[in-house]
Formats: sequence, C-alpha cells, structure tokens
Amino acid sequence: IPVDAFDIVLFGATGDLAKRKIIPSLYRRFLAGQMPAEARLIGAARSDLTDDSFRDLVRESLEEFVSAKIRDADMTAQFCDLCSYIAIDAKGDGGWDALKSSVRDEVTKAFYFSVGPNLFGPLSSQLREKGIACENSRLVVEKPFGHDLDSARKLNADLAASFDEDQIYRIDHFLGKETVQNLMAVRFANVLFEPLWNERFIDHVQVTVAETVGVGGRGSYYDDSGAMRDMVQNHLMQLLCLIAMEPPAAFDPDRLRDEKLKVIRALDPVPPADVVRGQYKAGPEGPSYTEDAENPDSLTESFVALKVGISNWRWKHTPFYLRTGKRMTRRVSEIVVQFKETPHSIFDREGTSAPNALVIRLQPDEGIELAVTIKEPGPGGMRLTTVPLDMTFADALGEDHIPDAYERLIMDVMRGDQTLFMRGDEVEAAWAWTDPIIDRWQEAGDKPHPYAQGSSGPEQALMLMHRDGRRWRDLD
Ligand code: BG6
Repeated sequence: IPVDAFDIVLFGATGDLAKRKIIPSLYRRFLAGQMPAEARLIGAARSDLTDDSFRDLVRESLEEFVSAKIRDADMTAQFCDLCSYIAIDAKGDGGWDALKSSVRDEVTKAFYFSVGPNLFGPLSSQLREKGIACENSRLVVEKPFGHDLDSARKLNADLAASFDEDQIYRIDHFLGKETVQNLMAVRFANVLFEPLWNERFIDHVQVTVAETVGVGGRGSYYDDSGAMRDMVQNHLMQLLCLIAMEPPAAFDPDRLRDEKLKVIRALDPVPPADVVRGQYKAGPEGPSYTEDAENPDSLTESFVALKVGISNWRWKHTPFYLRTGKRMTRRVSEIVVQFKETPHSIFDREGTSAPNALVIRLQPDEGIELAVTIKEPGPGGMRLTTVPLDMTFADALGEDHIPDAYERLIMDVMRGDQTLFMRGDEVEAAWAWTDPIIDRWQEAGDKPHPYAQGSSGPEQALMLMHRDGRRWRDLD
C-alpha cells in the first residue's frame, strides 16, 4: 500500500547508517511501489556537496547494500532524481533558508536525525525557530538515546521544547525486525500460548544476540558505551518487554508502550553475582578488543550476560537470561521460551526427549520453532524424541525477501504510526534500570573476563546458567 507523498530530510546523510540502512531501505520501498514518485529525500550534513555528488553517494550506497538481483538501472535513475542535498550548519545559520524553501508544506514532513545525540537539541530547536517544522512534522531520532538516565532526560526535554511526544519517533531497529513483530502475533493471535505464558509453565527465557563482528572502525563510540549500553538497554530490553508484557487491549502505540513500561518498572535490580562481563582477546579473526578500541587499558565489555528477575504475578519465579557479544562463534539472535517438564511422566523417559521450547529466531533464517516431544517412529517401544515444529518464514510463506527493519519503520513514520517506536518514558525507565549496574562496575573498577574470539563468551557466562541447573542453547 503506497504511503502519501512526503519529504524526508535526512540529517547525517553522508554517514554510515544512512549509507548502509536508511537510503537502501527507502530505495527498496521505492522499488516496491510504496515510496511514491512525488516523495523527496533531502540529504543534509556538514560537508559541502552538490546535488550531483550526493546522488553519487546514493548510487554507491545502493550498489554496495542492495542486492544486484533487485537493483534496476531505470529505477535507480528515478530514485536519484528524488534526491537532493543541502549543506547545513547545525549550530549556525548556514543552509537553513535553503532547507526552508526546499521542504513542501502540503506533504508529510519527516526530519530524520541520523547524527550524534549532541545534535538532537540544536537541530530540533533550529527546525522550530526557523519555522521549518510544523504541527504535522515528524521527527525520527536514532540511537543512542542518551548515555544514562540524566542525559536521556535532557534529550527528552530538548526535543519536547520543539516537538510533541506524538511527533517523535525514537528508533530501536530491533522492533522493525519481522520476527519481533511475529512474536506479538504468535502470542496474541493464537489461543495456544497465552494460558501457558507465565511462571507456572515457563521455566525460564533466554535472549541471545550474538555477533561475529568486532568493534573495529567504531571503537571510540563503542568504548564509551560497551555492550550494556549499546545492546542491552535498548534492543534486548525491548525483546524482553515484548515477551513479558501483559496483552495490551489493542495494538496501538500507547497501549502497547504502557504495557512495555510496566515490565521495565517491574524489573528487579541485578545483583553483582548475576552479571558477567567479557572482552574478546586477539584471535585468528582479528585483533583484541583493546586494539580495536585503540585503548590498551579499556575495561569496556564487548560481551555481557545477565540473569534478570521480574517482580510481578506473571513472572515472579521465571528468570530471564540475556546475553550479547561481539566476535562470538556465530551471528545469531534468538529468544528461547523454555517450558517446564510435564508434571508427571507416564513414560520411562528412555530416548532423548526434552521439555517444550518455543524458539523465536530473529536472524538468520527468521522463523519460529516449537520443540515438541513425540514417539520415535518404529517398533522399538515407547521411546520419546523431541522434534521441531518449524515455521521458518521463508519456507512457510514463500518469502524470498524479508524486509529490512528500516523499511518497515520508515514507512511507519510516514503513516504516522508510533507503535514500533520507543516513548520517552520507556527510554528513561530503561536507563533507570541499567544505570546502577554500570555505575557499580565503574565504582569497583570491574574487569571484564577475557574470552576467545569465535567462542560463546567467557566461561563464567555458562556458569550463570549452570549454577541454576540450566544451560544456554548451543550457538552452533
Ligand atoms: C546496533 C548496535 O544498534 O545494532 C551494533 O549499535 C550492533 O553494535 C547492531 O552490531 C546489531 O544490529 P543487527 O540488525 O545487525 O542485528
């Protein structure tokens, strides 16, 4: 379904995220006929580029990040015609008049801040003061949304000075991933799961976001953040919320976000014994974390695992184990909902059966799998085995292109749908929970455990579950 004509002003248009994700996603929506030919992409950044040199950047981005199978020379030329560029001085006057005369009043206007958070305040007040933004304009802001609770509060206040909350779209791109949305469909559009979705039937939940990449190239940002700020406070927290929240009364922005907020507010503080930090060593895949970060004394974690408790009726005795890290054995993001054993087994349990588990794979091979125990075929007696009921989307739906998270999210901005974006109070609550964990490390000078590249993180992370008689699902 095409969206109405729009102007999207992309601040940070010459940056990495614009090149890797935002521009290619717009192009794919253009190919799909969803981005109308009356739409405009106005790149804005500090560099002094002409429209033509910006179009060259756009072309390079498409060549590098859009599969040649779907690229089309004619469509690329048409797409480039929709692109223009204005050099902007975020804190001064340069470029603002030109921007004002470029954006059209009669179409949806979206201002996309793909820039560091230090520019959110100055850019948003310029847009308001120069009369470029109006009541119907939308503001899209990228992560990181602050560094801690205080800075997030300040950012929220800065944005609120120029925009209303219902105009602000805070991106957490994990929410745009197809399987994450499917998690909600599975939970709330089937009668099967909801009655079992609580501490009586669920033993524990695991969330793993493992990456094979290191931090080379973005070491200075990362070294200031670490895995806790870069991944847990936002992406893993969002996943946890969607699994743990109560059913909202409707799939609408505020009802959904109210329920997520209640989960974050019910999270227990995490004692030191329930957190493991790691840092990758040098290995065949590349240099050590400290070399990548160009900080030989860095105590920043490139891996973190935590056991998280939720103090409410639904989850009181069901722990959530979260882990994420760089330079791990395989790129895999998945959620495992591990059900309990049957209360009583009538079989002698010969064979290899395991309790039910619902595995939600975000990437790769997006899909949902339910581990079910059946009888092993054959005359060998009542031997049980556990097999996956596999709902891999590409197979089940015949999809060969699962849209990138950004495609969905940018189109949601144009439709004015905030459901998959974070609200200001949610982000603050997430920082309020994360801050004490990080502060404690800093006060104690806590050293991360070294781990080998290509591994599943430090040994201590395995122990976090072993000591509870549980284990992480294998990564390979
Ligand atoms: C980003 C983090 O938000 O998410 C990166 O800053 C991380 O460190 C990335 O690599 C992971 O996203 P995806 O979509 O590749 O899983």
